[in-house]
Amino acid sequence: VSDRLEIESYKGIYSAEFIDRGIAQLNANPPEHAHIIIDRNVAEIYADDLSSLLASRPVLIIEATEENKSLDKCQGYIEHLVAGQIRREQPLLAIGGGIIQDITCFLATTMMRGLPWFLYPTTLLAQADSCIGSKSSINVGKLKNLLGTFTPPNKVIIDTRFLDSLRPEEILSGVGEMLKVHAINGPESFDDIAAHYSEIFTDRAVMKKYIFRSLEMKKKLIEIDEFDKGPRNAMNFGHSFGHAIESATNFGVPHGVAVSIGMDMANFIAAELGVSNRSHFDRMHGVIAKNYEPYKHTPIPMSILFEALAKDKKNTATQLKLILPDQDGKIQIGLYDNDDNFKAVCKGFFSEILGVS
Ligand SMILES: NC(=O)c1ccc[n+]([C@@H]2O[C@H](COP(=O)([O-])OP(=O)(O)OC[C@H]3O[C@@H](n4cnc5c(N)ncnc54)[C@H](O)[C@@H]3O)[C@@H](O)[C@H]2O)c1
Ligand SMILES: [Zn+2]
Repeated sequence: VSDRLEIESYKGIYSAEFIDRGIAQLNANPPEHAHIIIDRNVAEIYADDLSSLLASRPVLIIEATEENKSLDKCQGYIEHLVAGQIRREQPLLAIGGGIIQDITCFLATTMMRGLPWFLYPTTLLAQADSCIGSKSSINVGKLKNLLGTFTPPNKVIIDTRFLDSLRPEEILSGVGEMLKVHAINGPESFDDIAAHYSEIFTDRAVMKKYIFRSLEMKKKLIEIDEFDKGPRNAMNFGHSFGHAIESATNFGVPHGVAVSIGMDMANFIAAELGVSNRSHFDRMHGVIAKNYEPYKHTPIPMSILFEALAKDKKNTATQLKLILPDQDGKIQIGLYDNDDNFKAVCKGFFSEILGVS
């Protein structure tokens, strides 16, 4: 496996590169005039590793919460950067997960009509998924991800050593997104990652290989559809159900784990509706179920789940837009009647597969 990917964007080519001593290199040789935006936990855990970097630059430390990823909070960040005398050609350097990435990308896009920016993703979700694809999103009050742009970083540097300090549920969450993009790439890709599922957690080289593969698969979709008008929508496999599960559990299930339950549900429902067949559910169920095992018994109120499912902007009055596998296990986007039969099939998943009623 190579260690470097180049992604073609409407803004030009940018790269995502795996660097094994990336943290040490950054500390020794930071990009000139960079202004650092770093996750509070990461700044504490890696305080020694990043000591000279953090002492030598203007640093904005942010706690990774959805509230801090909001329009209201941006004013403070901007004032902080201005107090650090930021100028137009000076880059922002993000060190953190998806929250720090989203904030930095948004500031880099809008401040002075555009600053260069670099990204050191520190969560598995960010390393294997969000670090490429150009999206930024900011919350406005309770409206999640309402403001946003498409602005890729100038460069992504991935040091998998950051994963050492992640909580186990953050790893499961990232693996959920990795399973997803493999499923979208096709049955062979999914079966391949499934065959190595346990090693991902125990062998760093295997983890790295599948992070790389996940990015390669996402690259194919974002290069043909960077602005998410068509083929890239497939990246939302498992997400309609996943988002509904997040709502119904008050975000008690980590995102990529909710997406894992969502993919299992999509495969089950597709088979029950005759869109796909049970063999695809069975083929994927073992590994997907392992990925949500610790959250299998989280109570999920059905009424809230159905309400949340119906809220998707892409639905019609009577139909839901869902991403389901077809007879060949290929992931397809379609409209399905939101009727009593559909609800009965959903409930069937929870009673038959999760053993809850
Ligand atoms: N822009 C995109 O394309 C995109 C894609 C997916 C998700 N997102 C957004 O990303 C956010 C979720 O991001 P996330 O899942 O990466 O997590 P996160 O940024 O919310 O971080 C999760 C937790 O892990 C901690 N953390 C981060 N790195 C760590 C490390 N190396 N060691 C120990 N702890 C660490 C953080 O402090 C935080 O407590 C959401 O707001 C979502 O909307 C954006
Ligand atoms: Zn996701």
